Amino acid sequence: MKIAIPSGLFDIVPTKTKQPWQQIELWQYVEASIRSVAEAFAYREIRVPIFERTELFQRSVGEETDIVSKEMYTFEDRGGRSMTLRPEGTASVMRSFITNAMQNEGSHHRLFYFGPMFRYERPQAGRYRQHHQFGVEVVGAGTAAQDAEIIDLLYTIYKQLGLKNLRVCLNSLGDSESRANFRAAFCDYLNKYVSDLSDDSQRRFETNPLRILDSKDANDQKILEEAPKLQQFLSRDASAHFDAVQSHLDWIELPYTVTDRLVRGLDYYNQTVFEVVSEDLGAQNSLGGGGRYDGLLKMLGGPDLPTAGFATGLERVVQAMINQGVAEIAARGPELFLIALGEEAHETAFRLLHRLRNEGIACQMELSKRKLKPAMQMANQLKAEFVTVLGSDEVKKQEVELKRMADGEKAVIRIEELVQHFKRSKSHV
Ligand code: HAM
Repeated sequence: MKIAIPSGLFDIVPTKTKQPWQQIELWQYVEASIRSVAEAFAYREIRVPIFERTELFQRSVGEETDIVSKEMYTFEDRGGRSMTLRPEGTASVMRSFITNAMQNEGSHHRLFYFGPMFRYERPQAGRYRQHHQFGVEVVGAGTAAQDAEIIDLLYTIYKQLGLKNLRVCLNSLGDSESRANFRAAFCDYLNKYVSDLSDDSQRRFETNPLRILDSKDANDQKILEEAPKLQQFLSRDASAHFDAVQSHLDWIELPYTVTDRLVRGLDYYNQTVFEVVSEDLGAQNSLGGGGRYDGLLKMLGGPDLPTAGFATGLERVVQAMINQGVAEIAARGPELFLIALGEEAHETAFRLLHRLRNEGIACQMELSKRKLKPAMQMANQLKAEFVTVLGSDEVKKQEVELKRMADGEKAVIRIEELVQHFKRSKSHV
C-alpha cells in the first residue's frame, strides 16, 4: 500500500516533476544567491531548533493571532511538556539570543537563517503546512537607517533573482501610545458597523481589532474607507522615524508605496512594517515581510535592545520566478561518467573513481554492471559532460578515450594523467 504525503506538504526533488518549482536545482540556486547577498550585507548565519516550548510562540507571536490560535503544530513530548513546531523564526532567534547571551559579544547583531516553518493552514496554491523561509533579525539598532537597510536587503535579493513587478508596501504602526490612541478611535468608529462586518472581522473586533484593516472582504473594505487612519495618530517621534525611513529609501531610489492598512499578522510589531508583494502570485501574493519589533527581547526576559527583521517564503519566490520566466536553471550532471566492461576494468575504474573524487572531480560510475548501451543511456540521462568506457584493452594500454557528450569530440588520455587533465580543464572554466 502506498503512503501518501500529508496534505499541504511537498518534496523538492532532483528528478523531473509536474511542478517545476519543486525542482532542487532551482532551490539550490535561490538559496546560494540569497546567501551571497546576505553576506554582502554583512549578516551572519544562525541555526536554531525546529521545535521550541509552546509558550515561546504564544508569548511572542501573540495568543490572539491566527498563527497561535489555530495554526500551530503543538504536541506533548514524552516528558509531558508542550512543544510546538516553529511557525516562524523570529521568536526562536530571540530565544537563542537570550540563551547564548549574545549581548556580551557586541552591541549590534545581524543574523540570518534558512529553514522550514510549520503552520496548519488550509492548503492552497502558495500556502503550505510546511513552508521554507529565509529571514533576518537585527538586534541593537533602532534607527530608521536600520529599517531601510533590511528593506534594501530584501529588495536586493528579489532583484538579484531577476524578479520584476514587485510592490514594496510600507507602513508605520507607531509606538504603543500611538497605537492605543488609534485603536480607541478605530473601535469607536467600527462600533456602528460591527454587525455589518464579515464573521472574521467581527471576531477580530473582540480580539485584535487592528487586524480588521487587513480584511480582504469587499464590504469590510467599504466600511474601512471612512475609518480613522493610523497615520493620523502617530506620535511626533514615531512620525519622524517613519519620515526618516522613507528618506533613506528615497536616497537609494528604492520604490515603495505607503500602505496605511498594512498591519501584518503577528503581534510583536511596532513602528515600521513592510511587505513585498508580487503581481504574479495570485491570491497569496505576499513574497516577504517584516518590520521593527522593539520590546520582544525584553518581554522574553532578555536585554532591552531594539530589534527588526523580515522573512521571505522560498516557495513563493521560486513560484514567482517561474511565473515570470526567470527560472531557467539547468541541472548539471557529473563531469565524468565511467563505464567498465569486464571484471578487470571494473577494478581499475573503481580505483580511478575513488581517486578522481578525492581530487574534487564530480564523477559517477555505472555500478550495476549494465551492458554498454544501457550504460550510455544512463550517462545521457545524467547529463554527464564526458564519458569513458574501460575494457581490457584500455587496462592493458593504461589509456582511455574521453568522449565529450555535447559534440562527440574524443581525446585519448593516459589513466595516470586523468586527474591532472580534469583539474586543468576545471581551472580554465
Ligand atoms: P510572515 O509574514 O508570517 O512573517 O511570513 C513571512 C513569509 O513567509 C510570507 O511573506 C510568505 O512568503 C511566507 N509564508 C508564510 N506562511 C506561509 C505558508 N503557509 N505557505 C507558504 N509561505 C508562507 C514572519 O514569519 C515573521 N517572522 C517575519 C519577520 C522576521 N518579522 C520580523 N522578523
